[in-house]
Amino acid sequence: MLNRRSFVGFALAMGVGVLACGQGCKSSSNEAVVGAYLSLSGPDSTFGTDTRDGVDLALDEVNATGGVKGKKVKVLYEDDKSTTQEATNKVQQLIDRDNALAILGEVASSRSMAGGLVCNKKHVPMVSPSSTAAEVTRDPKTGILKEYVFRVCFTDDQQGDVAARFVHDTLKKNSVALFYVAQDTYSSGLANTFKASFEKLGGKIVIDKGYQKGETNFTTYLQEIKGKSPDIIFTPVYYNDMVLIARQAKATNLPGSMFVGGDGWDSSDLIEGAGDLLEGAYFTNHYAPDVPWPNSQKFVASFKAKYHRDPSSLSAQGYDAASLLFDAMGRATELSPEAIKVALAATANFSGATGSLTIDKNHNANKPIVVVQVKNKKFAYSTQLLSTAN
Ligand code: PHE
Repeated sequence: MLNRRSFVGFALAMGVGVLACGQGCKSSSNEAVVGAYLSLSGPDSTFGTDTRDGVDLALDEVNATGGVKGKKVKVLYEDDKSTTQEATNKVQQLIDRDNALAILGEVASSRSMAGGLVCNKKHVPMVSPSSTAAEVTRDPKTGILKEYVFRVCFTDDQQGDVAARFVHDTLKKNSVALFYVAQDTYSSGLANTFKASFEKLGGKIVIDKGYQKGETNFTTYLQEIKGKSPDIIFTPVYYNDMVLIARQAKATNLPGSMFVGGDGWDSSDLIEGAGDLLEGAYFTNHYAPDVPWPNSQKFVASFKAKYHRDPSSLSAQGYDAASLLFDAMGRATELSPEAIKVALAATANFSGATGSLTIDKNHNANKPIVVVQVKNKKFAYSTQLLSTAN
């Protein structure tokens, strides 16, 4: 990792070339600088650190084969401390101070919205590894595409649709309670898309409960939900909240297997904090360590060799976002933000750890969605489904 001090040292060594350069001479040094803003600390810290590990693996690989266009790739990491304000600040710094050619980040949709605004305004391409809210790449009100923002994951329109079909058609459950964070872009958005698809299938939402971000006592909500006797509680929240919810559900006599979640559950902290309590629960995800895709298995082996543990989906998505960006930098007509953006938009059939990546006209990647089950305190691949939503 390069901190500010060592970056300044590097810049001095380069004859201050990097600091003094404007847009036009970004590629004049012998390093190609990419910025990454992630939640390396704060409540969602495993999202950031797991993603960084995936990016670093991709970085090792690209530099082992000579970098891009004869230049070594350098990734400057910035910690946004899990806040949207810092996401904005850090992206500004990476572009204005560090002259990053492109930006990697963020995981949480709310922070990708903040960072994406800056990238779009400053005409520097951004690749989000795993932000799934539809509006990250396209403004839903105006319908306008954020021309410089891309992602290597599916969207919540697709994820909600797949989760609804899985509950209705595979689990054969017909009555669902929704429990989510009311003001969070990701959580409330995914609850909404699930609801629309589930009702279309003829399912019933028996209670729709949004709680406030930062709440930690869920007992009253859980009792109210229990009173409606749902078959399933759809809880598209991040892992940190899910640990608390699982513990309080046990105290309320709601079995953990009633819960179904989204990709926000993916963290080793969920297993550590509530793995046993959630035995049998399912969630939709980008990948699972035992997913039967050849490229995923190759990635899992390299990741294990470097870090001696199984990669989470965050690491897999981080690896794919970085590998695709480096590939696009190689394909670009020159090393400029504009040319890299054009190359990213032209991506077709790039083979990633999480499947084949084709960037569509909305700058999204259409990919199969994996259903993961919590089994014996582990995440186990259950099935994969393709969304019928866009
Ligand atoms: N999809 C989530 C969001 O958009 C972030 C996330 C991705 C969390 C993958 C965990 C795993 O906010």
